[in-house]
Amino acid sequence: MFHKITERELLLKTEEFIQSEFENDGSGHDWWHIYRVRNMALQIAKQEGGDLFLIEMSALLHDLDDWKINTELHPQKTENWLCKLNIENLQISKILDIIEQVSFKGAGVETKANSLEAKIVQDADRLDAIGAIGIARTFAFGGNKGRLIYHPEITPELHQSFAEYKKTTAPTINHFYEKLLLLKNRLNTKTAFAIAENRHTFMEDFLTRFFAEWEGNM
Ligand code: ADP
Ligand code: NI
Repeated sequence: MFHKITERELLLKTEEFIQSEFENDGSGHDWWHIYRVRNMALQIAKQEGGDLFLIEMSALLHDLDDWKINTELHPQKTENWLCKLNIENLQISKILDIIEQVSFKGAGVETKANSLEAKIVQDADRLDAIGAIGIARTFAFGGNKGRLIYHPEITPELHQSFAEYKKTTAPTINHFYEKLLLLKNRLNTKTAFAIAENRHTFMEDFLTRFFAEWEGNM
């Protein structure tokens, strides 16, 4: 019993820390992204199983050391936080391992998750990248980076390395072809796939309308 209370406290402290760290993000990686990913990860875990403490902690911390903010691949801020909480080393290395596997790294780059917990957190993060929320976040990100919405002559690229994928300054519509529409078929769990189907169709319908309106056909 005592064990569980401690875990709850650690999660609550982490939630407060992350909430303050992500308060002012305008790139689609604000606290509410973390909140949705955490809730979705727990929802998927209800069906799929997995260690709930590892899943919730990893979901809360998964964007703290993002490559867009911090270009090192080792999640240093996350490690420092977990050490500060006095979490045991084995648990820390499991959480860091999950977090390092979450990100999408380009159309041609395989990002297989090696544990049930990593699969679930990766799926939850990817579900937040598609559907209506996904569309909103993508344009928020593009605006935050000063990108064009669309340019008919700049075609999407299927990046073969993380370095290439990271470098892109392409218009925001391209991101649908470079990442968002690829996600449905790269999910790990059946539970996430069932949720993704509707969200995927919604993005396809959005794009159909977007191009029709672009030509004044709607
Ligand atoms: P991951 O969550 O797989 O690490 P990111 O943090 O890179 O992925 O991206 C999360 C979200 O940020 C994307 O789903 C998308 O909404 C937005 N985003 C990232 N890169 C781009 C881009 N080049 N153009 C538009 N939106 C982007
Ligand atoms: Ni994320």
